[in-house]
Amino acid sequence: MIADLFSEQMTSQVQLAAGAYWLRGFALPQADMLCDILTQHFVDNPPQQMMTPMGYKMSVRTTSFGQFGWVGTERGYGYTKKNAFTKQPWLPIPDSFLDLAQQAALQGGYKDFIPDTCLVNVYEVGSKMGLHQDKDEQDFSQPIVSVSLGIPAIFLFGGAKRSDKTTKLTLTHGDVVVWGGASRWFYHGVNPIKPDQHPVLGKVRCNLTFRKVI
Ligand code: SIN
Ligand code: FE2
Repeated sequence: MIADLFSEQMTSQVQLAAGAYWLRGFALPQADMLCDILTQHFVDNPPQQMMTPMGYKMSVRTTSFGQFGWVGTERGYGYTKKNAFTKQPWLPIPDSFLDLAQQAALQGGYKDFIPDTCLVNVYEVGSKMGLHQDKDEQDFSQPIVSVSLGIPAIFLFGGAKRSDKTTKLTLTHGDVVVWGGASRWFYHGVNPIKPDQHPVLGKVRCNLTFRKVI
């Protein structure tokens, strides 16, 4: 673990696997700004519960920014250029979000990361996400940058096989996880969120996931 001093906050970088890093507190300096923009975004782009191919509603609610937005339907998972709820194209990823995603990718050793989607997952108490691989994109050469805001989550980070042992991380407000290269396909998930209270977001966790779709 390499600890360094960043904006008077202690941050640390923990390697989880080849190409995968937990950047603790990396987004703390921008966290309030991220929350403000998200709260604004939710007014016209309210997060929706997506469906699984098995016909279940996901427990998280989801919205997006970018050229593409992630959707889950009974016909499968994928990306669309329009928000089915507003019938409008997704709004562009704010420059400040792009900047943060690029800085985090660079910290993980990934140069020139230009995401074309930012998925926003909103977790209420009890929301969870089962172990899965991110494989709805066409460009696997690019990493995934995941930013946590609000109340904590236990994040599971596994390996290339669903049965591989997982590492449990408690992700808190401002934490970033970057994974790519050899770990781009690694299984990951989120345990049911425990009751808690965050001064800005309340009883909610928001996760931003930046990816390159095409
Ligand atoms: C995801 O895998 O899409 C979300 C991960 C997280 O919420 O931390
Ligand atoms: Fe994922």
